[in-house]
Amino acid sequence: MANIDMNELFKQAKAAAKSAYAPYSNFRVGAALLGANGKVYTGCNVENRSFGLTICAERTAVTKAVSEGCRSFKALAVSTPDSDIPVGPCGACRQVLSEFMPAGAPVRFGGKSALRVNATIGELIPYDSLHDLGSR
Ligand code: THU
Repeated sequence: MANIDMNELFKQAKAAAKSAYAPYSNFRVGAALLGANGKVYTGCNVENRSFGLTICAERTAVTKAVSEGCRSFKALAVSTPDSDIPVGPCGACRQVLSEFMPAGAPVRFGGKSALRVNATIGELIPYDSLHDLGSR
């Protein structure tokens, strides 16, 4: 994964957070997915007054990409500009992301401070039925 520019991907996630519709939580999130086709698909959280219908930034990005024909992702960056510390994808998003990313795909997330967490999707969702259990 040496040729993936995670700095650039994080910048795109940060820019995507500007579009967040988050009037209820005031917590903006931006996500950027690098497609296997080389294109970047971004997303933001889209809240709803019902609360339960809120869509996370990560799933917005996945849905945009898949609906445009891209079903495989090489990397993910998530920006949470309203938190000091990095906030990683929620459990539901980890499950959805794992459907379309190899376990070794890099993930970077960070908030307002310079601190960044670098992990892989396999670390975020270990013992995953798709990647791990099927190969045992
Ligand atoms: N949120 C995301 O968009 N992604 C995450 O990984 C964590 C949570 C959103 C959902 C909601 O709009 C706001 O952040 C507060 O939970």
